[in-house]
Amino acid sequence: MEGWWSTTGGFLLCLSASLLLQGRANTFTINCSGFDQHGVDPTVFQSVFNKKDFRPVINFSIPTHINISFTLSAILEVDAQLQLLTSFLWLKLIWNHPFISWDPEECGDIKKLAITAENLWLPDIFIVESMDVDQTPDGLSAYVSNDGRVVYNKPMRVTSICNLDIFYFPFDQQNCTLTFSSFLYTEESMLLGMDKEVWEIMDDSRDLVRTQGEWELLGINKATPKMSVGTSLFDQIMFYVAIRRRPTLYVINLLVPSSFLVAIDALSFYLPAESENRAPFKMTLLLGYNVFLLNISNLLPATGTSLISVYFALCLSLMVLSLLETIFITYLLHLATIQPPSMPRWLHSLLLHHTSPTTHRPTVPQKEITGLGLISTHLSGLKEPGKLGGKELGPKEAELNGGSGLTRAQLVDLWVQFGHMMDNLLFRIYLLFLAISVTTVLVLWNT
Ligand SMILES: *[C@@H]1O[C@H](CO)[C@@H](O)[C@H](O)[C@H]1NC(C)=O
Ligand SMILES: *[C@@H]1O[C@H](CO)[C@@H](O)[C@H](O)[C@H]1NC(C)=O
Ligand SMILES: *[C@@H]1O[C@H](CO)[C@@H](O)[C@H](O)[C@H]1NC(C)=O
Ligand SMILES: *[C@@H]1O[C@H](CO)[C@@H](O)[C@H](O)[C@H]1NC(C)=O
Repeated sequence: MEGWWSTTGGFLLCLSASLLLQGRANTFTINCSGFDQHGVDPTVFQSVFNKKDFRPVINFSIPTHINISFTLSAILEVDAQLQLLTSFLWLKLIWNHPFISWDPEECGDIKKLAITAENLWLPDIFIVESMDVDQTPDGLSAYVSNDGRVVYNKPMRVTSICNLDIFYFPFDQQNCTLTFSSFLYTEESMLLGMDKEVWEIMDDSRDLVRTQGEWELLGINKATPKMSVGTSLFDQIMFYVAIRRRPTLYVINLLVPSSFLVAIDALSFYLPAESENRAPFKMTLLLGYNVFLLNISNLLPATGTSLISVYFALCLSLMVLSLLETIFITYLLHLATIQPPSMPRWLHSLLLHHTSPTTHRPTVPQKEITGLGLISTHLSGLKEPGKLGGKELGPKEAELNGGSGLTRAQLVDLWVQFGHMMDNLLFRIYLLFLAISVTTVLVLWNT
């Protein structure tokens, strides 16, 4: 019984309300007289405020048109690890409120009023990629014009998911999508449009973003595909925001020091191979490079393979290789001076053919000794070979040397020559490898 009464009562109430609405359908004009003298009379807006829970339309078959525009005011953070782009937007929503209109001539030419946004119906436009709750500040207002146009501006901190590719870091570009859509209203109830052209959005945003931060705005594009969820279609506008990193900071802090260290490493090949300083020098460089890598680790993207980590690994391995080369050459020279192994005949003839006349010392015993004396001053840390210099090899040793009949001094000299030749050759290979890898990395960065 009670249920019947309440439903009938509700029905009657609805009927009378709708009749009332019908009756007032054409008279949603607000009496604005006195606004310019006593301020706005809140009672005349009360009927509008009371309806704020419902979409403001006269005929519910007609969708509300919401025009959207935004200004990208800052790109706060690009997190490659979580694949998140944090940006700051000033979102502008414009729609028509059919229950608001007044005649500005009646009220001292007042054409628009600011009304607290919480007293108005607001469209539930959200960003599909957003991974954070919308923290709109309280107490925002909206401008209402005498023809019922509502302009609502709100600042938004948007943390949106974005497919970030850091391979080309620090010369990378990212293309992130911001999709504006209604959370609830389907296509039949809400249609989205653009308040201004996308190039205007782009121009306004670029001026703001240009002034600050690590990222530069490259372009904004727009697409308007409909999103279907189940059987319902949602209207949406997608903006593709293309941004580019400003690489100066990284070039100065990462690439330049690293290149300098590698350049010094390459130049350290010009330290004489006999010098005691060469290996410790390269060692120190390697140590320095490791300290450098430790220092800059917080500037590098935390996840993913980037070209720059490959580049650093390459530099480090070049330095390790150059140190290994120095150890090898030092060992070779050391071996040559204290206990020269017998030299294969092919190597001997190769040395005779390939050393230039200036470096190739003639096998005249007189000059031999002076030449060796020169070397032995270089080899200050090694065993003095000069003492043994003049000694003729016994027939057995001569046989071991492939029967070439070399004196020990000549053998030492040849081995030292061989050591220098190897050093030269390995240095050339090192330079070639360095050039190839640097060119490869540069070419990859430029594509
Ligand atoms: C508007 O309100 C004023 C009093 O506030 C009243 O004198 C005037 O007649 C009203 N105008 C209309 C068109 O209702
Ligand atoms: C509401 O709009 C629909 C579609 O435009 C129209 O067919 C219908 O007659 C309208 N209803 C009223 C009461 O105006
Ligand atoms: C929305 O934009 C369209 C096209 O630019 C325009 O015709 C329409 O009047 C705008 N609506 C509002 C409420 O400003
Ligand atoms: C960003 O990606 C979208 C599609 O994923 C593409 O249409 C748009 O042209 C891209 N923008 C730039 C600047 O590359």
